[in-house]
This record gives sequence, structure tokens and C-alpha cells, in this order.
Amino acid sequence: MIQLRAMTEADIPLGMRLKTQAGWNQTEVDWRRFLQMQPDGCFVAQCDGQDVATTTTCIFGAVGWIAMVLVDIEYRHRGIGSRLVQHALDFLESRQIPTARLDATALGRPVYERLGFVAEYELMRMEGVATTDAIEPCNRLAAGSATESGLAFGDREPLVDDRRVADCSAGESGLAFDAREPLVGDHSVADCSAGESRLAFGAREPLAGDRRVAACATRRGGTEDLGTVVGWDRRATGTPREKLLSLLLAEDASRAYLAGESNSPGGYVLSRCGSRAAHLGPAVAFSPASGRALLDLAAADWVGQRIYIDVPSDNRAAVQWAEDRGLTCQRSFTRMVRGNPVPDDTRLIWASSGPEKG
Ligand SMILES: CC(C)(COP(=O)(O)OP(=O)(O)OC[C@H]1O[C@@H](n2cnc3c(N)ncnc32)[C@H](O)[C@@H]1OP(=O)(O)O)[C@@H](O)C(=O)NCCC(=O)NCCS
Repeated sequence: MIQLRAMTEADIPLGMRLKTQAGWNQTEVDWRRFLQMQPDGCFVAQCDGQDVATTTTCIFGAVGWIAMVLVDIEYRHRGIGSRLVQHALDFLESRQIPTARLDATALGRPVYERLGFVAEYELMRMEGVATTDAIEPCNRLAAGSATESGLAFGDREPLVDDRRVADCSAGESGLAFDAREPLVGDHSVADCSAGESRLAFGAREPLAGDRRVAACATRRGGTEDLGTVVGWDRRATGTPREKLLSLLLAEDASRAYLAGESNSPGGYVLSRCGSRAAHLGPAVAFSPASGRALLDLAAADWVGQRIYIDVPSDNRAAVQWAEDRGLTCQRSFTRMVRGNPVPDDTRLIWASSGPEKG
């Protein structure tokens, strides 16, 4: 007999056991965050009195995320997963949430399809070890010198721990870096102004036949950037995720990086510890140069360690970054929706926060 009940912090060991059994990457901190974000929307299923399955929900405005659908391997194929997801949907319906969304594994997808979810797009989980290659162009060059492609990079050292300004002079095209428009789907020149407390970081992008050079100013972020991060994130994901982003920033603001300014968006990246690998993301970028620079900065914080990053397969520039850094595709997820579609833009999503919250 299947029974459902609310999940509490006392169930974290159950959650950890089930996620380890499934080979997932979450930590106790992740479980605590799920409970904090939606204390009334996380559930445990019991079968014959045993705790055997979990799921979590999280309401972001009009969107409810369902995640952590885990059934003990000994109890699968008895309808427990389907009952749990239906329970999560009933919870969201009781809160008048018109859209449910999730990232499905291959095992989960048929369960969700039967419950009315439809596939939207694929995310590739890219995996590898973060190396200094992530910042190789800067590593190889002395401050102020130019790459073959004509871009000047600063000395490697200041990129992570320091707030000195690196050189960011113009590339061979001779263009000045002073455009201020957001680069959504555009190949114009990105902002490259570097204030005193800002890092300058550039990357030459293959700009679809265009020889112009993109570059961007990046800086370390902090909790004071929450409003900017939430606004940029919403432009990319179509979802108000302050609840998630405020917790991620509060947990470790030292791994937040931003490009651009609030009036000239470049993007942001966060990263966090996992039980098997560090997880890069979420990351949003308004130009390929910002995306590459931000992910390089995030990866540089984990040099020598295994990293995961979940990239929409449609975002070719982000996939290219991962491949350039030696990461390979470990598995894929299908983003699915039930109800009103969400106006997100995969060109701007350089890394999902993970399958747990999109
Ligand atoms: C995906 C997962 C949650 C499914 O849980 P589950 O409890 O086995 O799910 P259900 O029993 O509801 O459905 C699974 C299958 O069993 C079948 N089934 C359901 N009740 C059954 C019963 N009484 N007898 C026989 N088969 C049954 C379903 O029809 C379904 O078949 P299908 O996959 O061929 O369509 C589970 O496999 C799991 O934890 N996997 C690892 C983690 C994971 O991938 N989670 C999904 C994240 S998106």
C-alpha cells in the first residue's frame, strides 16, 4: 500500500540514500535548500510502512518545478513514481499554478508523458576535469600581449583572486570596444569597459562570418548583485527565480561572477559543490564572449576537480565552450512542460542550475 507524506529535514538521509543509489550529484545542502524553498511541497512515499521515494516541488511565480523524483530500486514498477508525481501536480494545482516543468531522465520521461508532460528541448550534461586550460589563452600570454586572433588578454593571475584590471585592447579588426547594446542574438561588439574594481577578459568568437571581436568586462559578484542576477536570469529563463538565486548566492557568493552592468547586461554564473562533481551553473550570458569568459572564471575555481555543466543542446556556443575545454557529454535530460509554455531563451541559457530547478 502506497502512502504519501510531507518531507522534512529528518528525511534528508533518505534523500541522500536514494540519490546515491541513482548516481546523482546532490548534497545535503541541496536537500536542505529544496525544503527551504518549498517546505509544504516536498514529499516522501511509503510502501508497506517503508520510506521508499521522494519528490520536491518549487513554486517560482506561475511556474512549479518538480524534481528529485527518486524511487528505491527495490520498489520500482509498482506505480510509486507516478503516484508521487501526480501528488506533486495536485499540490501545484491546489496553489493555482498553471505550469509544471521539469528535466526528465530517460527513466522518468515515460512516467511524465503519461501524466501530460510534453518535451521542449534537450540539455546535455557535460563532464570533465577543470584544468588551467580553461584560462589557457591568458595563461600563455603576458599582460597586454595579443593572441593570434588579435585579442589582447591580461595576465592570468588577476583573473580569479584579484580585482586588478587586465589589459583589454582592441583586436586586429581595430574596433573599439564601446558598444553598449545587449547582445541577444546579435554579433556586434560587446562591452569592454573595465573599471578599477573590474576584471577585463576577452575571447575571440567565431562570429558567423563576422570578423569583429567580442570581449567583455567581468567581475566577482556578491549578494549585493542579487537584483541584477534575478533580472538577467528572468530574461533568459522566463521565470522569477529569486527564491533559488538568493539562496545560492547566500551559500557561496565568492563563486559568483558577472559580466557587464545592469544597464549593459553581460551575464552571470554561479557554481557549487556536488557529491560527485562541482556543478557549474546557473549561467546566463547575453553574448558568446560573456558566456565563455564567465564559464572560464567559474571553471577556474575548480581546477583539478571534476565538473558538471548542463547546457541546452540548442545553445551551440555553450556546447562549443564545453567541448573546447575537453568536457564530454555524459547523459542528457529532456526539459518538459505541462500547461502554459514558459518563454525561455536557450540562446541565453549557458548553464542550467541543474535538473532540480532548471
Ligand atoms: C523514474 C522512476 C522515478 C520511476 O519510478 P517508478 O516507481 O518505477 O514509476 P512507475 O512504477 O510509476 O512507472 C514505471 C513503469 O512501471 C510500470 N508500472 C506501474 N505500475 C505497475 C505495476 N503495478 N506493475 C507493473 N508495472 C507497473 C509503469 O507503467 C511504467 O512503465 P513504463 O516505464 O514502461 O512506461 C524510477 O525509475 C527512478 O527512481 N529512477 C532513478 C531516478 C530517476 O531517473 N528519476 C526520474 C527523474 S526525472
